[in-house]
Amino acid sequence: MTKGRIFSGMQPSGKFHLGNYFGALDNWVKLQKEYECFFSIVDWHALTSSFEDTSRLPEYIHDMALDWLSAGLDPEKNVIFVQSQVKEHAELHLLLSMITPLSWLERVPTYKDKLIQLGSQGKDINTYGFLGYPELMTADIILYKADTVPVGEDQVPHLELTREILRRFNYLYQPIFPEPKPYLSKASLLPGIDGRKMSKSYGNEISFSANPDELRSRVMLMITDPQRVKKSDPGHPEVCTVFSFHKLFNSGEISKVSEDCRNASVGCVQCKKMLAEKMVDMLADVHARRRELENNPGRVREILAYGAERARKVAAATMEEVRAAMHLA
Ligand code: TRP
Repeated sequence: MTKGRIFSGMQPSGKFHLGNYFGALDNWVKLQKEYECFFSIVDWHALTSSFEDTSRLPEYIHDMALDWLSAGLDPEKNVIFVQSQVKEHAELHLLLSMITPLSWLERVPTYKDKLIQLGSQGKDINTYGFLGYPELMTADIILYKADTVPVGEDQVPHLELTREILRRFNYLYQPIFPEPKPYLSKASLLPGIDGRKMSKSYGNEISFSANPDELRSRVMLMITDPQRVKKSDPGHPEVCTVFSFHKLFNSGEISKVSEDCRNASVGCVQCKKMLAEKMVDMLADVHARRRELENNPGRVREILAYGAERARKVAAATMEEVRAAMHLA
């Protein structure tokens, strides 16, 4: 018996870092034990805002699969697949687009925000596809009749729209779809190495695929308490990036780390070295799994093909019902 059925997805954008792991993927790794899960690499969603140069998409998809599998998502237990390999997503998206008023899509808060934000970066995404982003997300979720959708806070308006669209479907044709609820992941507590929000666009990220040496050198670059110039100066852990990382990777010794900083008995270099080794230890299994898969690229392709096959079975059954309900059978 499971608690229910989960669907969630991530866009393959080639940017997966530790900040993305803590707050999203770590949650999935836990949820896979309790729910029946469908996890999709949503490559069509990636096209909604990056359609001009698609040449690196295959690489990003492969990398994302590596990230997920090395994090410990089990491809037997969960259905792990690439969205574009299951064409039913496109068919359901098309049919839902017929019953969705334009105004519902236009009033989604993320729509105008992102249009302006990307517009200011010189990116024009005044496209049909971008407006339909939450429509495609709706198709993803209800194709599998998922009841639980782990997402970040920013995705909640999309899920509200999902419920409105499926209610309209259920009302107009036949009550096929259950209403899904969000399962909110907590915002990531990890800052970037400069203390700002971790983001590849700031260049302050630590890649989820970083090997032990890369981890060590990124930790050494972290910004510490600017008021602690000499080792003998007492530090303020609450403003220190290294300390934020200790909270996650070294929670068992956190009060000692804090005291040693405040009374200046441990210097920043030593404190960073301790952190780096904790991170290397905690990510050792992740690295081992990644190395194994990197040596066997055919295996990743097999896993995704197997996932797509399993997803297609469920999706095809739902589409039979949808077509029958709409007299398209
Ligand atoms: N929009 C989601 C995000 O950017 C990704 C996504 C696509 C998704 N389809 C989904 C999430 C379906 C949950 C369910 O985070």
